[in-house]
Amino acid sequence: MPTAQRAVASPAAKPKRTLENRVNDLSWRDWLLFQKSFFALAGDESLYGDLIQFFTKRYAPDSRTNRVMAITVSDARPAIAPHGRMLFRETVASQDIGRWHYGETDFTPFDFIVVDLRQCDATLAEQTPASQEDVRRFLANCRAVLKDGGFCVLLSQEVETAAGRYPLPWMLSSLARRSFRLRDERIGLQADDAAPVYVNVLQAIPEIGPVHEALPALRVCAPAIREQWVKPRPKPRNKKEMLHPAKFPEELVQTFVTELTDEGAVVFDPMGGTGSTAVAALAANRKAVIIELGDAWADIARTRVAEAPGAARGRWHVAHGDARKAAKLIPAAFKPVAYTVTSPPYWRILHNPGMHVSDEGQKARQAKGLRTTYSESKADLGNVQDYEHFIDELAGIYNCCADVMESGRVLTIVTKNVKFERAQYPIAWDLVLKLCGDDGRFEYAGTTFWCQDDVGLKPFGMGCDWISNILHNYCLHLRVR
Ligand SMILES: C[S@@+](CC[C@H](N)C(=O)[O-])C[C@H]1O[C@@H](n2cnc3c(N)ncnc32)[C@H](O)[C@@H]1O
Repeated sequence: MPTAQRAVASPAAKPKRTLENRVNDLSWRDWLLFQKSFFALAGDESLYGDLIQFFTKRYAPDSRTNRVMAITVSDARPAIAPHGRMLFRETVASQDIGRWHYGETDFTPFDFIVVDLRQCDATLAEQTPASQEDVRRFLANCRAVLKDGGFCVLLSQEVETAAGRYPLPWMLSSLARRSFRLRDERIGLQADDAAPVYVNVLQAIPEIGPVHEALPALRVCAPAIREQWVKPRPKPRNKKEMLHPAKFPEELVQTFVTELTDEGAVVFDPMGGTGSTAVAALAANRKAVIIELGDAWADIARTRVAEAPGAARGRWHVAHGDARKAAKLIPAAFKPVAYTVTSPPYWRILHNPGMHVSDEGQKARQAKGLRTTYSESKADLGNVQDYEHFIDELAGIYNCCADVMESGRVLTIVTKNVKFERAQYPIAWDLVLKLCGDDGRFEYAGTTFWCQDDVGLKPFGMGCDWISNILHNYCLHLRVR
């Protein structure tokens, strides 16, 4: 593994027993480092090298050398060391992608495919049914030359178009679900303002997660929000804050509040939890209003906010209730809202105790007698069973936020794409598709990744399957239309 990747990873945990590694030839330590869902991008050679070494063994069980295909859209070919595998290269221009197919007729299926679309032009961001069909056909042709169960990785970035920054990686992966199972994503962070590289992992097995029949055209806008990623170093949580299963750091909120509002402006959080948004807004000399459904959380928020620096009378308000009633619950003195920043329940993921879904891990919280879910209330979005219903309800709450904001103002949603029962649920992408489609109330203004470096890695699936530790959150910035 390249040193750059080592530098950002937490120390490796030892696997409990000796396992046979059926997936690759890596040491357990290198396996674990690869499971972290974000990494520092050190260059093409290590990007490709890490992927080839993770997703293939050098030799197949019949002693055949593994076969890897790299498909790129530009003749400026990335440097790729084959690491003892047989390497095949294909080039396809963005506008010809719908017509590409592998020319050989009699060949052994590939063990692993990397499709590198980082250099593609804006053609692929055309949001027409025909361009979607081209992408689908191309990915079906990739699937046709990959062995059953093999992995295909898509490398891509957001594309600058005349209207704004278009999230091509989400679209590619969503369209790929007709041919592959979407397994996961990793985010390659670059220095300064360079767009992160998405490493989206697909597998040649039937899809069991949600698949879109067709993707709606997405409205994007310029300028996009400046920060591409942040790694705040939050203070350890105190006893009161620990009671809540999923608090976000004030440091994260402050980055956006100072960029997107002026002093004295009203900052709103419709799902305020322990009141972090309000604490951050008051510290930056803004006014704050939050709504929280759980009475215990609303009480904690009130106490925290009352004690926070900048919490003078009339500068803050904590309402106990359902965010769907935002227009009624927000006092007139706090309208219109200048900026909304919030984090919803990540669907019903907190009901999945085996997974690494809270900072401490659900099992650790249970052992300490701490709550692992928000509440038993039917109005709590963390208790909604059906995924599509959850996305609809959540989008409804954000539309209520638009009712108390003026046109051009920003809503930032902090969320994650989650895994549940071996399927991927891309909450971030599906929410934006719902809110920024033709009939939506918002336009997409870019993503800032919140990368959590303060959470230990877990050796999920070691030796038998690829299961990442999802440690990047999407901060989705949407402008009210
Ligand atoms: C991810 S937590 C927010 C944590 C918060 N950002 C913090 O730092 O403490 C989501 C919150 O949404 C609340 N919630 C769920 N459904 C709600 C609804 N319909 N209206 C208002 N709040 C709701 C939950 O009680 C939970 O506290």
